[in-house]
Amino acid sequence: MKDLLDLLMIIAYIFPAYATNGAPVLFARLFTKLHPLDCGALFTDGRRILGDGKTLEGLLSGLVAGTLSGVIISSLLKGLYRSQVEFMLLSLGAIMGDVLGSFIKRRLGLMRGRPAPPLDQLGFLVFSLIITWTIMGPQSWANFSTVIFLLLLTFFLHIGTNMAAYLLGLKDRWY
Ligand code: CTP
Ligand code: MG
Repeated sequence: MKDLLDLLMIIAYIFPAYATNGAPVLFARLFTKLHPLDCGALFTDGRRILGDGKTLEGLLSGLVAGTLSGVIISSLLKGLYRSQVEFMLLSLGAIMGDVLGSFIKRRLGLMRGRPAPPLDQLGFLVFSLIITWTIMGPQSWANFSTVIFLLLLTFFLHIGTNMAAYLLGLKDRWY
């Protein structure tokens, strides 16, 4: 029972990164005009720096969703985060990982929206944890098994939520 509670705590801890990654899919579509983060610019290889899948509106909605969910979770689960900075870093790191993922995909010649597993599913999480734990130090529960648990959970959750978003008509691709 305690183990199950520990796992739920770990999921609650990382939730701001999930909210950050998921929000753009829901909210970017509400804007009539979207502003690509790379302003349409090309990299030295002649391909887009990031592509149209990374927009300012998506970035801001991700940061707002990540921070808001962090505020709510930290008020419900006292002591889960060491300070408010922690969930803001988780959110910021998730955005940066997602943007970096698109940068890498474009350099590999993959068009916007093409699949690149496991980068698509895990890039945001890995970067979120690296940034947060580099700045604040790792959480006391961070070890090989808990990190593997988070990676596996996130991988399958990402695929599951993307399929759900596709079936709901929120995404035009299932992956
Ligand atoms: N999105 C956005 N801004 C962001 C991140 C995501 O507007 N910073 C929106 C885009 O509409 C994007 C969708 O959320 O199409 C899904 O995000 P993602 O799968 O990360 O983008 P892709 O379209 O697959 O593009 P890429 O190949 O660059 O990952
Ligand atoms: Mg994608």
